[in-house]
Amino acid sequence: MTDDKTLMQAAQRARENSYSPYSHFRVGAALLTKSGKIYTGCNIENAAFSATVCAERTAFFKAVSEGERDFEALAIVGGKEGETADFCAPCGVCRQVIAEFCPENFRILLGNGEKFQAYTLETLLPFSFTKTNL
Ligand code: THU
Repeated sequence: MTDDKTLMQAAQRARENSYSPYSHFRVGAALLTKSGKIYTGCNIENAAFSATVCAERTAFFKAVSEGERDFEALAIVGGKEGETADFCAPCGVCRQVIAEFCPENFRILLGNGEKFQAYTLETLLPFSFTKTNL
């Protein structure tokens, strides 16, 4: 069984692969499936800036493309190059992608690997627009 701290540490390790030569802001994410597997991701930037993808979406797209649909929790670690922020919140687009696959009570762990706090998706994305609205 993967505990929260282990998931945060996986996010921290994934951050080491961040490709962020433009922003110098490095992010790692670790996504735990209900079956106990961890899919990690980092942000991958591009000279054409809009082609950049965030760490969270990298993790989700890796998992979903491998057939995963049921998720337990997501851990995120980020910050400027050379330092780790106490807290790196997911961007709005990533929150929307999370909402596509996860319920309102889905747990999102934000922190620096040592200290972190769990939030629900509903807290981070209230009044969300999802498939239930279509
Ligand atoms: N970034 C993420 O990977 N996740 C977030 O939640 C916030 C932002 C990345 C995108 C870009 O490569 C860099 O951080 C600066 O925005």
